Amino acid sequence: RIGRVSTPEIKARKGGDPIVCLTAYTAPMARRLDSHVDLLLVGDSLGVVLYGFDNTLPVTLEMMIAHGAAVRRGSERACLVVDLPFGSYQESPAVAYRAAARLMAETGCSGVKLEGGREMAATVAFLVERGIPVMGHVGLTPQSVNALGGYRARGRDPEQRQAIMADAEAIAAAGAFSMVIEGVIEPLARAITERVAVPTIGIGGSPACDGQVLVIDDLIGMFDGFTPKFVKRYAEIGDQVAAAAAAYAADVKARRFPAKEHLYGVES
Ligand code: KIV
Ligand code: NA
Repeated sequence: RIGRVSTPEIKARKGGDPIVCLTAYTAPMARRLDSHVDLLLVGDSLGVVLYGFDNTLPVTLEMMIAHGAAVRRGSERACLVVDLPFGSYQESPAVAYRAAARLMAETGCSGVKLEGGREMAATVAFLVERGIPVMGHVGLTPQSVNALGGYRARGRDPEQRQAIMADAEAIAAAGAFSMVIEGVIEPLARAITERVAVPTIGIGGSPACDGQVLVIDDLIGMFDGFTPKFVKRYAEIGDQVAAAAAAYAADVKARRFPAKEHLYGVES
């Protein structure tokens, strides 16, 4: 195909083949993921997995712009969604529009993602009506970690289930082209997927969701902090990095590196 998967194409995949999504934060990683996924998400999880913050709250719009632009340069096919960080959109629809417009203009992304439910529905509608495709994010919303009191899975009691279902319905009705469902009990993720007309992208959700997303650093074993139950590790790149550094250190100390083939002005 020529050009990126568009947000209407993602929306049209409701109930069809599973939508494959991964996060990416850098150009070289984006290049390696681009042909394997439908959608690349520049998530504010970068604050935790790249910058070493305890949570996503310190992430700034400038950080999201820098990494969004890098992922854009490293990819050509995947739909590209960039997270609106904490504090850049919650205050009002107008404030959200200003931040989202900067993400769109300065990264060339296909759309933005924001966390929240009924309280963010007017903001989602405001952006969508003005040309900015929005992906929602309901259930466990990490930017609200202080209000939620941690990262425990949600929807274990009936009131919470009803609230999260109402959130998902409100975000879909507001015009989101899809939504992430994070960290909820499986039957709830399944029920939301059956109820809303736009694709659901699960992370700690359900195989019934219309798509799945994982944080790339979790998937490849690069992030060595807390690993949630919903992560499946497909590689141990972190161990490989440590082994490579150890081998290099041994070579330097033994003067095995640099060898002749690495030197200028020496016959090899
Ligand atoms: O920030 C992120 O990586 C995300 C996904 C995990 C959905 O929001
Ligand atoms: Na995020």
